[in-house]
Amino acid sequence: MAHSAGTGKMTSTSTTSTSTTSTSTTNGPTTNGRTATDTTTSGPAAGGGRVRRDIADRDDITELVTAFYRRAFADPLLGPVFVDVAKLDLDAHLPVICDFWQAVIFRAGTYRRNAFGVHADLHARVPLTEDLFARWLALWTGTVDELRHGPRADRAKLQAGRIAESMRRRLPDRPTGPDPVD
Ligand code: HEM
Repeated sequence: MAHSAGTGKMTSTSTTSTSTTSTSTTNGPTTNGRTATDTTTSGPAAGGGRVRRDIADRDDITELVTAFYRRAFADPLLGPVFVDVAKLDLDAHLPVICDFWQAVIFRAGTYRRNAFGVHADLHARVPLTEDLFARWLALWTGTVDELRHGPRADRAKLQAGRIAESMRRRLPDRPTGPDPVD
């Protein structure tokens, strides 16, 4: 059953980074045993002065993916694809997507499915246009930028762009209008 991204387990977990305005990066360990090396060196702040550290573990990926899907479901362009066409069961889908990003970001062997095949099937039902890919990428990049900063965050964005481009190129062309005469 599909449901909206704003329900169920889609709780908003604010980051564990320091959020005070008076401190930049701290020396001591952060939560979950993460150390100061996980934080960025110069303490680049997202909007609101929050210091963003890099993606450290699976929990961070879950947070990222959850935030991304909340936006994707609410997006006027992408939302209908997830909600009306795929009728995506987000609770079932999230662990799979997190496996995927764990494999991409940490080069872990956590994902062995065929992501392209899933999108090819989807494309047969609704054209995955360049505009859709561009929006998908903008939402992903924006979400990563807002929450995380560092080499792994960079990798998450870079690889998303590469995978999106490769998917888009491999998907068969679908005519958008009536067949041309001749
Ligand atoms: C136009 C852009 C995109 C749209 C509309 C889209 C939509 C979707 C939807 C609806 C599903 C669920 C399909 C189902 O289970 O029935 C899905 C699955 C998935 N998407 Fe996308 N997607 C897009 C681009 C991407 C990109 C660029 C990536 C990777 C960088 C990606 C990664 C995945 C993965 C890993 C899955 C899970 C596949 C599996 O079940 O193993 N998607 N996507």
